[in-house]
Amino acid sequence: MKFPAFTTQNNHIRQLGINHNCWYVVARSNEVKTQPLNVTLWNQPIVIYRDNTGKIHALEDRCPHRQVKLSHGQIKGNLIECAYHGWRFNELGECAEVDYLAENQKLPNCKIRSFSVKEQDGLIWLFPGDESQAEQVILLGLPEWEHLNYIATVSVINCQAHYSFLIENLMDMYHGHLHQDLQAWANPILHDLDEDEHRVDAYYQAQSYYKIDKIWSVSQLFFPALRRLHPEPLNVSYVYPHWVSTLGNDFKIYCLLCPVSVTETKAYLIHFTSLNAFDNLHKLPVWFRRSIKNSLFGAAQKLLDGLVRQDVLMIEEEQQAYLQNPELKSYELNRALVSVQRLMRSQVEKGIRNEN
Ligand code: FES
Ligand SMILES: [Fe+2]
Repeated sequence: MKFPAFTTQNNHIRQLGINHNCWYVVARSNEVKTQPLNVTLWNQPIVIYRDNTGKIHALEDRCPHRQVKLSHGQIKGNLIECAYHGWRFNELGECAEVDYLAENQKLPNCKIRSFSVKEQDGLIWLFPGDESQAEQVILLGLPEWEHLNYIATVSVINCQAHYSFLIENLMDMYHGHLHQDLQAWANPILHDLDEDEHRVDAYYQAQSYYKIDKIWSVSQLFFPALRRLHPEPLNVSYVYPHWVSTLGNDFKIYCLLCPVSVTETKAYLIHFTSLNAFDNLHKLPVWFRRSIKNSLFGAAQKLLDGLVRQDVLMIEEEQQAYLQNPELKSYELNRALVSVQRLMRSQVEKGIRNEN
């Protein structure tokens, strides 16, 4: 069956909002230490902090007294204290203590917004939508994060571009052309596509350079001369608003989004190398397996950072070209991108329906 080339409708998709009723990733766990952290999710400044028990909370990053950022402040017990006059707020965003309150004065009734937030799989997940729906919405977990058979590598994407450019890059595996020198994958062919109201799954057949089947084969990650091209299925999925991919049985990558604004996107790229091919691994003591997992953390760092650098350059140029001439038509051959754009639009519409 032949599919015609089609033109993409830049002008709408690059201005698209987000569906707020989803769990977004706003930080890594280890970014939130004792100091409050400022993050921005779709134009909303948010302060993330740990109380004295280590529990994570998220509030609008704004002191209601004089509208400065609460993230300049510090944590006192289970309260966050503003740097300016020292007003303190609880995790619901209510003013709980003011040291200079006179005897005849009451605490000001000035509540700021709090957000549902969870710490899971080394990440901080935040739900910016309707609080009452947060628990019903599934959070895309990373079971490999704690699993002893998976080696993780993390790279952070910061790009000055609308999130649609990033997702389209990630769903179009024909862009392997850009990464030829990094030997990530080769010769992709899209052979199947599924979509529903939550996700798009694109199934490619491709070739991989790596095969993790013998203990020594882990060294392929470090030595290019040991690599041999061989066929592997390459599956990529847009599980709104995030992305996940598998290359054969050995590799899995997540891209977890934090859309910052209509022209800026942050994302956490988390790569896992599987050691499942080693049948006897489970016979080793857990402390030993954990030490292997920990000592190999970041094994794919050079590859991942290289991919990110090359992709960000292209994605930011696409954004610039769009801003300079929004009417310019683009041409597309990959039918997965039609589905991807359709999902983005329908999710945003769904979010708007939920707000009304
Ligand atoms: S501005 Fe925050 S306490 Fe005054
Ligand atoms: Fe890429």
